[in-house]
Amino acid sequence: MTQATPLPPFAAIVVAAGKGLRAGGDVPKQFAQYRGKPLVRHSVEALGKAGASPLIVVIGDGQENAARAALQGIEGLTFAIGGLTRQDSVRNGLEALATSAPEQVLIHDAARADLPNAVIERLLGKLVETAGAIPVLPVVDSIAVAEGDAMSGKADREDLRRVQTPQAFIYKDILSAHRAWKDATDAGDDAQVLMAAGGQVGLVDGAECLKKITFAEDLMSDKPQIRVGQGFD
Ligand code: CTP
Ligand code: MG
Repeated sequence: MTQATPLPPFAAIVVAAGKGLRAGGDVPKQFAQYRGKPLVRHSVEALGKAGASPLIVVIGDGQENAARAALQGIEGLTFAIGGLTRQDSVRNGLEALATSAPEQVLIHDAARADLPNAVIERLLGKLVETAGAIPVLPVVDSIAVAEGDAMSGKADREDLRRVQTPQAFIYKDILSAHRAWKDATDAGDDAQVLMAAGGQVGLVDGAECLKKITFAEDLMSDKPQIRVGQGFD
């Protein structure tokens, strides 16, 4: 049997400071139960097992008790306080790593439960060539550009990809990119922040199981659900 090659050292940030408004519920979705444990615990455990160090969990102001309960018993975590937008939360997580200044960092949504080690391997492998690497999936449906409820154009799906997290970066590059972005509008994701600062982003194969938990029905089952009134983010 061939042995898996050990991963190079990397730090990780799990952003878990959102309010989970679309999912609703008594607690923000990252602290809700998903397949037998709090949602945030899935990704934090996976990153810990993969060797992420330091491992920063960014939580909202006032979410300390919920986070400690959800992550009880997991050693070696550092908590940072998030901000109003995801981008603010990521920046705070990056600043929390400043003293350890790792070579590479993975930035991941607490809202994604299943994190295959193979994706981490592909991401870190790609960082040899580019300052950023992101997992993507192809678009299988045809694409319509919408103006309200009218179709106003089309886009070629061959040119489009669905973007997931974790996203991997050379730490010093993504830190300076986020610092430069600080006062601008909200970013779609961290790859966009790096690109805006002139950094190159490589693409690797993502995984369907990395799908983001967004709505209440996503929490109830891991099977595909039919949604009415779907939102966007
Ligand atoms: N997130 C964060 N800080 C924020 C907003 C979001 O750390 N100010 C995190 C969420 O906790 C989540 C990830 O970013 O793990 C992706 O965001 P999203 O799925 O949009 O979660 P929420 O913002 O919590 O949900 P909603 O948009 O429905 O309110
Ligand atoms: Mg959100």
